[in-house]
Amino acid sequence: MDIQLKPLSLDPAKLDGLSEQLLRSHYDNNYTGAAKRLNAIRGQLSQLAWDTTPVFTINGLKREELIAANSVYLHELYFENLGGDGVLPSNGLSIALTRDFGSVERWRSEFTALAKAMGGGSGWAILNWSPREGRLVNQWAADHTHLLAGATPILALDMYEHAYHLDFGAKAAAYVDAFMRNINWNTVYPRYGAAVKASALSFGVEPSAVNQATAQLIDVRRAETFADANDMITGARYADPADVSGWVGTLDPERPVVVYCLHGLDIGRSTALSLRARGVSAQFMEGGIEAWRAVQLPLVPKAAA
Ligand SMILES: [Fe+2]
Repeated sequence: MDIQLKPLSLDPAKLDGLSEQLLRSHYDNNYTGAAKRLNAIRGQLSQLAWDTTPVFTINGLKREELIAANSVYLHELYFENLGGDGVLPSNGLSIALTRDFGSVERWRSEFTALAKAMGGGSGWAILNWSPREGRLVNQWAADHTHLLAGATPILALDMYEHAYHLDFGAKAAAYVDAFMRNINWNTVYPRYGAAVKASALSFGVEPSAVNQATAQLIDVRRAETFADANDMITGARYADPADVSGWVGTLDPERPVVVYCLHGLDIGRSTALSLRARGVSAQFMEGGIEAWRAVQLPLVPKAAA
C-alpha cells in the first residue's frame, strides 16, 4: 500500500519570519518528493527476486527506503509542530524539561545550539522522549536515519538547507530563531503525553490497590497546583516533580514508592518513569488524587500534613 500524504495542517502564510513560499516549496518538493520516492522504492522491493538480486542492490534499496520513510515521518512532525506562537506554557512538558535539563531555558539553549551547529550541513535537531532513560533528550541526527533507538520524537527541527535557504540563504542561526518563534506547543505536548503514557502502561496502580502500610506516597502535583490545594493523601509528603534529582536520595530504598499527581496523567507517569530510571521501584496512581478522592479514601488538610 502506498503511503498517503498528510495535508499541510498550518496556514503557511501566517508564520512569523518563515515565508509562505518557503513552506510551500518544502512541502511540495521535499516532503512530497520523499513520499513519492518511498512508494517507488517499495514498488521495486515488492518485485525483487530476493534469492538472486545482488547484495549491493538490496543494500541500496533498503537504505534508500529507510531514508525516504524517515524523511516522510520527520517532515510530518515538522510541519505539525509549527504554526504556534512559540510560547511554552507552564505544564507537564515544562516540568519535564526543567527536571531533565535544569530549566526550560537551559533546554532551549542546548536545542538551539545543537541545531545551529548543523548549519550548512544536513540533518535534524530532535527532542525525544527516551523510555530507556525515562527522560527527554536532545538528539543530533546527521541525516534522516540517525534516530535514538526506542525513542519517540516530540519536536523535530529540519536543518537541511532546503528548509531555510530560500528565506535565509546561509544564515542558519536566524532560521533556527524563527523556528523557535513558531513552535506550536499545543501539538508537541500531546505527543509527549502519548509517549509517556505508552512507556508507563505497566506501572500504574489503582487507588484502592495502594498498600498504605508499606508504600511511600509522594505527592508530585505541580508546584502551582499543590500551592492552591487544600488537602493531600493521608501519610503522603510533597516533592516537586520538576526536581526529582533533588529529592530522589531522600526516599527509603526498602519501601516501594507510589507517586500521585492531580489526574494521573503525564506528570505522575513521567515522575514514576524518571524514578525507575534512577533505580527506584516506583509506580504512579491511576487517576491521581482525584480518583483517590472519588472513592473516599482518606485525605488530610494540607496544613496538618
Ligand atoms: Fe526538509
